[in-house]
This record gives sequence, structure tokens and C-alpha cells, in this order.
Amino acid sequence: MSKILIRNTNILDFSKDVENVRNVDIFIDENKIKLISKNIKEPPNERIKVVNGKNKLTFPGLINCHTHIPMVLMRGYADDLPLNIWLNKKIFPVERRLDPESIYMGTLLGLAELIRTGCTTFVDMYFFMEEVASAVKIAGLRCILSYGIIGINGKKGLIDSENFFNNFNNYANGRVKVYLGPHAPYTCSLEYLKEVATLSKKLNTGVHIHLNETKSEIEELTKEFGKPPILKVAETGLMDGKTVAAHCVHLTQEEIEILKEKNVLVAHNPSSNVKLASGIAPVQDMLNKGIKVSIGTDGAASNNSLNMWHEMRLASFLSKVSTLDATSLPAREILKMATSVPGNYLWDGAIGEIKEGSLADLILIDISKTNLTPAFSLESNLTYATYGNEVDTVIVDGKIIMENNKILSFDEELIRKEARKQAERITGKKVFLNE
Ligand code: NI
Repeated sequence: MSKILIRNTNILDFSKDVENVRNVDIFIDENKIKLISKNIKEPPNERIKVVNGKNKLTFPGLINCHTHIPMVLMRGYADDLPLNIWLNKKIFPVERRLDPESIYMGTLLGLAELIRTGCTTFVDMYFFMEEVASAVKIAGLRCILSYGIIGINGKKGLIDSENFFNNFNNYANGRVKVYLGPHAPYTCSLEYLKEVATLSKKLNTGVHIHLNETKSEIEELTKEFGKPPILKVAETGLMDGKTVAAHCVHLTQEEIEILKEKNVLVAHNPSSNVKLASGIAPVQDMLNKGIKVSIGTDGAASNNSLNMWHEMRLASFLSKVSTLDATSLPAREILKMATSVPGNYLWDGAIGEIKEGSLADLILIDISKTNLTPAFSLESNLTYATYGNEVDTVIVDGKIIMENNKILSFDEELIRKEARKQAERITGKKVFLNE
């Protein structure tokens, strides 16, 4: 379907200081928003899909800026453990049993969850990324993918990353972009990060990395480097282009300044940081310094969901309680962190806002639901009261991939079945409902 008309819907206009809801029609032509206006006339003699937008808020698709989608297969497999035991004793051994098939099925399961909760773009780092890209092509989402590489992969990691870039950057009608994914400074030496930096300049692409997640990691690296880790990482040239830095939980003032100077997009992962007892990122301090901060779920093994609405609410609450300031991270700021801030950074403003000429990545939210009643403020309800299942229809790149709560792009029930089988195979543990 190349033309869609959303009739009689509501959109939030952030250009005014006070909340401003406009009742409009939205006309989508091919993959772009062509017109936003009242009472748009249907062009005669053309096949147009009309979507009823009554009692719906049409909102930009959410952008999940840090995740490892196939890890949904390990959802609930290991909880309530210290990070090093969780990672070394539980997660790493299972990851060694992953193969292309499990990654493909796990990705589609994760993408179903993203679609159902209104996320249309995600930033991912993992293994067998060709399978992730193939699943994304089928499911219809938009993403930035990176091969997760660590120092012991040596040259092979760099070669795999370059091949993946050459084969999949701009894949699926441009919905897939490829960045480089050095895992973290504690798994990649500074020399290795330098090589990644050189490759990113050669390919003219960005970098996705984990930085400053836990206190113990930072203490060890500071001892080894003689200065705070982010300062040393910056010296390698790794952050000279577009850089998505996950976590940034504990930061010195100098590190905050370098994140600003290097124009890094920080991906704040509140659930993962809280669940693994890593700490609370100083988001308000970063915003005060003018750093761009986005939101991510991290993988479902440490969250345990991919629901961006949970993250948005928690991000606001954590900022308020950690600064003892209830005005910190108000609703509108949170909504922008999940849409226009990363949309501008990652896709040059073509996504993350509802405006004429933008790519048509939109979600329709049923604002008549019980938990969103009454609606004094849609900005407030979206940030603090939304569960995710109010998302009714999802459009990405001008294609409807979920309509009236039914995913259209693939067979969700079949994927749940296949994912259960794969989860049992990789963990060696029985799961419920796998007959
Ligand atoms: Ni992560």
C-alpha cells in the first residue's frame, strides 16, 4: 500500500510552551508524510488505505537507543544475581550456544514486542547480525545494527564488521544502517579501539559502545589508564564521528565535558542499571551541560522487557528522586528523549517528529483506554500512565506493520512457538507452554 490517509486523529504539537493537541488528517504517500491538515480530500481514482484515527493519538514511533534484541530468548533465565556472576556464569555460556537460527527467531520475537509497544527504530549490538538484518527486513522496522566485537576477536572482528557494513548498510530500502560495535573499553584494548576508530573513519560510519556501566569497571580502568576511562577512549579517536554510548552511569565532570565536546548520544538504560544494581546515571547533569540523552531498554536478559514506556517513566522517576527535584525530567522532555532527540541525531531529523516531508514512522495510540482515563494531559498520560498495549496501529516507512493490534508483517504465534524451542535448546532448561 503506497498511500495511507489517517482520518480525524490527534497529534501533539511541541512548538508551543503549553500542551497543544491538534485534530488533523495525515496523508502518507510512499514512505513519507505528505500532508497534515484538516479534512484532506482523497485524490480521485487512486487506491488509498484509510485509517480511522478517532480516539487515537498519532505519535512518532519510539526509538530504543540501546538493546540486544535476540537476548529475549534469555528473558527470565537468570535474575537477582550480581553482574559478574550473571554475565560470566549465566549469560556467556548460553551465548556460546547461539546460532543463526536462534538469533533469527529470537530477533523476530523481540521485534514483535517492539512493534506491540510502539517502537519503530532500535539501535542494536550483538552477533550473527546478518540474521538480525534479515528479520528486520521481514518485520518492517528501522534500525542501526552493529557487530558486537571484543579485543580477542582481533582482526577477524574488524573484517566481519567491515563486511557487514558493505553488505547491509542501507539494506531494506534504507531502513537498516550499520555502525561499528566495539563492546566496551574493558573488553577492547585502547589499541583495538584505535583500529576501530580508523575503520569507522574509512567507512564514514558511527560507533555504538558501552561506557562506564559499573563502579568496579571504572575503578579498574582508571587504575590501568591513569585517568577516567572516557577521557582515554576519546583520545583513541573513537568518538570523533557519531557515537552512541550506552549507560554512562558514573561520570566525572571531565568525562561529562568530553561527552559534550564529542557530541555523543548517550543511551540511558534505567531498568538495566537499576536491576543489575549499577547505579543511576546523572541524566540531569548531562542535560544541563547540553549533552544529548536518549533512552534504551538494553537486552531483555537484564530488563526484562523491551517496553520503552516503562523506561521513559522510570527515567523520569529516577531523575526526580536522585536530584530530589520533582521538576527534573518532565513529561515533554522524556517524550523528546524517546523520539526527536535520537531521530535528529541518528536519522538527520527524518524520523522522530510528525511533520510534512518526514519519513512515515508513526504509531496510533488508543487514548480511550481505562488506564489513560481521564486525559487532562496527553503528554502526562503518555509518560506516566501508558503500559504499551494501547498502541493499536504501527506504520514504518509508509507501511502498516500492525493494524488493530494484529501484526501484519509476520506470523507472531508461529514465532512464539519457534522462540520457545530455541530458548530451551540454548539454555538446556524447560520453558512453559512448549508442548
Ligand atoms: Ni548493553
